[in-house]
Amino acid sequence: MSPRRAPAIDVRDLTVRYGDVLALDAATLVLGHGRVCGLVGMNGSGKSTLFKAVMGMVRPDRGTVLLDGAPPARARRAQAVGYVPQSEDVDWAFPLSVRDVVMTGRYGYQGPTRRARPADRAAVDHALDRVELTDLADRQIGALSGGQRKRAFVARGLAQGATILLLDEPFAGVDKRSEATISTLLRELAADGAAILVSTHDLHALPALADEAVLLQQRVLLHSTPDEVLRPENLALAFGLEITP
Ligand SMILES: Nc1ncnc2c1ncn2[C@@H]1O[C@H](COP(=O)(O)OP(=O)(O)OP(=O)(O)O)[C@@H](O)[C@H]1O
Ligand SMILES: [Mg+2]
Repeated sequence: MSPRRAPAIDVRDLTVRYGDVLALDAATLVLGHGRVCGLVGMNGSGKSTLFKAVMGMVRPDRGTVLLDGAPPARARRAQAVGYVPQSEDVDWAFPLSVRDVVMTGRYGYQGPTRRARPADRAAVDHALDRVELTDLADRQIGALSGGQRKRAFVARGLAQGATILLLDEPFAGVDKRSEATISTLLRELAADGAAILVSTHDLHALPALADEAVLLQQRVLLHSTPDEVLRPENLALAFGLEITP
């Protein structure tokens, strides 16, 4: 019998401020392995802040984050967590090829010299193949389209072998084909036991993508099934769509 496993993502009572701005207010979110969770909320609702706090990139005022039972820094050292940032948070001018970007997912395995071994190259090739970017592997990352860039970052998480994947709006500005490629891949990774937290504004695609969904508005307003989250009265809570006469 295997020992009981800690949740993949365990966020408790997380409060984050930027100066006077309250970006997250006592947010709690627990996600198990093998699950895809969609994160839904309007612009400025704290989605990216939640990802950054889970990664240990912003310091919470209050609350805790555990990944596989460990603090973010330890989970990152163990290569347990992969992060695909929102496009706006990436400097696309850095002079790296697609293959180089994906190889950064292997740095944690390579020691200080960062010399790629055959296993690293094989993992990168496999990841590029799964996101259908093999043909563009030697192109500079900044010379890709938006959807291709997203797939390159997903490949980085794949090459890393992360079992917790955080994707901040991977479908923004992405065509249906790329969306389907990424979405299918996420479902396959979850079937293999990965925990996947993915923010999206594509509400129509949510039921096919996710097992569960979270409505965020600084606080977690609702954590339920995608169908429940998509009920008009629940969306109105997060998006303020109700119209007062
Ligand atoms: N570095 C920062 N300094 C100050 N305020 C910030 C910073 N980053 C985010 N904020 C503010 O924190 C709040 C939450 O921002 P966040 O980026 O987490 O929202 P989001 O849900 O990801 O929005 P979007 O859908 O537009 O990506 C917003 O009010 C935003 O203006
Ligand atoms: Mg964001």
